Amino acid sequence: MPKNTDSDLQSQFANKAQAWSARFSEPVSELVKRYTASVEFDQRMAQVDIQGSLAHADMLASIGILTTADLTSIERGMARIQEEIANGSFQWSLDLEDVHLNIEKRLVELVGDAGKRLHTGRSRNDQVATDIRLWVRNEIDIAIELLHELRRKLAGLALEHADTIMPGFTHLQVAQPVTFGHHLLAYAEMFGRDAERLADCRKRVNRLPLGAAALAGTSYPIDRERVARSLGFDEVCRNSLDAVSDRDFAIEFCAAAALIMTHVSRLSEELVLWMSPRVGFIDLADRYCTGSSIMPQKKNPDVPELARGKTGRVNGNLVALLTLMKGQPLAYNKDNQEDKEGLFDSADTVRDTLTIFVDMVGGIRVKADAMRAAALQGFATATDLADYLVKKGVPFRDAHETVAHAVRECEQRGCDLADLPLADLQGFHADIKEDIYQVLTLEGSVAARKHIGGTAPERVRIEAQRILGEDSD
Ligand code: ARG
Repeated sequence: MPKNTDSDLQSQFANKAQAWSARFSEPVSELVKRYTASVEFDQRMAQVDIQGSLAHADMLASIGILTTADLTSIERGMARIQEEIANGSFQWSLDLEDVHLNIEKRLVELVGDAGKRLHTGRSRNDQVATDIRLWVRNEIDIAIELLHELRRKLAGLALEHADTIMPGFTHLQVAQPVTFGHHLLAYAEMFGRDAERLADCRKRVNRLPLGAAALAGTSYPIDRERVARSLGFDEVCRNSLDAVSDRDFAIEFCAAAALIMTHVSRLSEELVLWMSPRVGFIDLADRYCTGSSIMPQKKNPDVPELARGKTGRVNGNLVALLTLMKGQPLAYNKDNQEDKEGLFDSADTVRDTLTIFVDMVGGIRVKADAMRAAALQGFATATDLADYLVKKGVPFRDAHETVAHAVRECEQRGCDLADLPLADLQGFHADIKEDIYQVLTLEGSVAARKHIGGTAPERVRIEAQRILGEDSD
């Protein structure tokens, strides 16, 4: 945007550049103009602003407030404006405050009086609320599709690694063996809930505020249902005061975005950990990593680290929006203009992050041997030994105690439970028989957990296939 000088400002003011300027006797200062304007960030809503204006104009024509000729002129003018915006020739002006006034002013330049009639029965207050809803709705649809793609990528990798065994952790201590496929599908669950949450949020986004005008509605015999239909809204907002001031839908979207990023962040944390040479479970493709300017040996997982970092900002956007709303009396207040930057940022961050993760997850190189070796350490099958005794009639608490003694013995000898000779195991409990060695293997442990939600390869295959076969709607 060109920086306006004071003399520009004076002359534009003299030309009544501002839509509301006739009432005012002195221009706002350059700083106040910049402070109050939103065009630098809300111009990205131009497309939906035009869409909303066209639906409004069509409705005004349908009730006889605009003539067919006016409507045709408005449509022609808007088509031209769309072209100018697309080819970068549209002149955005800070004097015209926001996207709405910039487009309206240009329309008047292009089509004259028909353009001046467009704002009949409408205010920027219901206009902006409509624009944001249309914009968010589109972002929701994109994010839902990306979440499904990511789920499919996770399920594809899970299918490949349904049999790959890794240690499962609690408290970051080796707990029980799990399959890597199962571990990946945990994230597919999270992203599935995220998609559901967005679909639910979309229901409340998809209501039409237009018709509320400034706050009290309008005296024109408007047909709100018609506007709702032409813009694809499912419902019409039922109270004009609420319609212009409600930003719950944006808060819900930001909350859903924060949760998506929180899930991405948890996954990122694991990717970083798994890629550490100390763990060495996976490798990420070079295009997601960077080197160090000083340490030639380094390959740093920058993308997951940044995703983890950006989550903080997306969480912050949610809190900012909640705080923006908490003190506002009905109805519209200019505070509301502050709703956009954080909202846009959350949507952009989610979109970029998911797009990158779809590709990155597909390219994870799994080091199955390292996973298996790690699962063999830390007595990961101790619970299986306890369960074995329970099946022989030993109460679980006693079995737990018995296995604790066996683990202690192994620690002293520096060996695994499966390395103890049968006679020694029988020293802990006489009911232990030769078949214990199947139970103590990693494969036996995971295969036994084949119920719904379990880690068994057979179950992972079923779940992964289910996700791959899902219809993404
Ligand atoms: N740019 C404004 C916003 O983002 C549009 C609505 C302005 N309404 C007003 N009464 N000043 O909220």
